[in-house]
Amino acid sequence: MAGRLALPAAGLLAALRCGRAGGSGASGPRAGEALVEASALECSEVDWKGLPAVELSDRGGQDFARVLPSIGGTVGSLTLAGAEVLLPLGSAEEALENHIRYHKSGMLLPWANRVAGGRYSYFGKELALDINDAAHDAAIHGLLEGHGMQVASCSGSSASLVYTFTGEEAPNGGYPFPGLSVRLDYKLEGGKFVLSVHASVPLQAQGPVPFNFGWHSYFKVSDVSQTRLEFDRRGGRQWRQLVTDANLIPTGPTELFEGFNGSDVIGGTPSRPTYWDNGFVSVDPSADTSPKDLEVRVRGPGNAPAAVIGGDAGVFRFVQVFSGSEKVFNESAVAVELMTCATNAYNTGDCSAASMYIQPGGSWAAEINVALEASQDEL
Ligand SMILES: *[C@@H]1O[C@H](CO)[C@@H](O)[C@H](O)[C@H]1NC(C)=O
Ligand SMILES: *[C@@H]1O[C@H](CO)[C@@H](O)[C@H](O)[C@H]1NC(C)=O
Repeated sequence: MAGRLALPAAGLLAALRCGRAGGSGASGPRAGEALVEASALECSEVDWKGLPAVELSDRGGQDFARVLPSIGGTVGSLTLAGAEVLLPLGSAEEALENHIRYHKSGMLLPWANRVAGGRYSYFGKELALDINDAAHDAAIHGLLEGHGMQVASCSGSSASLVYTFTGEEAPNGGYPFPGLSVRLDYKLEGGKFVLSVHASVPLQAQGPVPFNFGWHSYFKVSDVSQTRLEFDRRGGRQWRQLVTDANLIPTGPTELFEGFNGSDVIGGTPSRPTYWDNGFVSVDPSADTSPKDLEVRVRGPGNAPAAVIGGDAGVFRFVQVFSGSEKVFNESAVAVELMTCATNAYNTGDCSAASMYIQPGGSWAAEINVALEASQDEL
């Protein structure tokens, strides 16, 4: 193709998108083919309000995602079947502030949620992270959001971003693990959004690298108080709520939780919905009857389709629910965060898999997907 076109920030239905050849060898439109239908022009790197962005579109623009490489691969917008699914980031200023405050759709790694007191012990060595949640005396949501990722590929309706840790991301040696390499793949496919996360540690690394992951997806709803959440209870799967202290750090015990079963609304009033900021863990009674995947549904009021977020049940046993966005930043959404480990796992090791470390020469990968499901009234 004849070089990249300088386009203004492309809107959802922009007829012309500037594709860039990616690693897979696919290429953007050739000269003379520029006006093929929008569905064929699926990944583009654009300037979005002064920030670099990667925009994906599929099904003629009905499905659209904007990813912000300079903010650790945060998803700035996700539309499926023409409906906004996640709280969007509306401006560069908001996007730059977001990761410090609300972490809207941020990629939470190498830890998700809180590390108590910002301190953890790495095989007997005490390490300290910056406290960025002073109200709870905690280091929260990892290190990636503050860093820029490289666009490794952008073609078809998918893109890959990469980042390699230098070991300097946390000041004062708080996370001294150079070489940890992360790749985030984003894809729109058949009405679904698919996020794949890959992490690897070089063979030359000095030791195991602590790593866990969560995605801070805020599902946009018209009224949180009238929204129903539904945890996956197929195959007898149960959910337990993690008991926490005043700083929202789990203390160890868990309690059987029968709520979020799709029947009751979150409750409270539209301007002050019932406040949840709690962690839950799924427990499967038997590997034979339990589905391999895990889903959480977020069903807004009326005939709104439910957003369904899913992942591998063995990987994402932990889910954090936050219903306080109305109170904290006056936007109507419910955050459902799939996590590989419990809050404060750096101190407890409480993770879905056997270990929360990636060994030298080792790697880790997982996938999360988001789809819309028509409301039951319409079925
Ligand atoms: C569903 O959750 C509500 C609380 O939100 C609870 O009162 C009710 O008993 C639950 N239903 C079942 C079948 O567990
Ligand atoms: C909250 O946002 C709504 C618009 O969604 C606006 O009308 C209202 O004034 C805002 N309230 C506050 C306290 O900022």
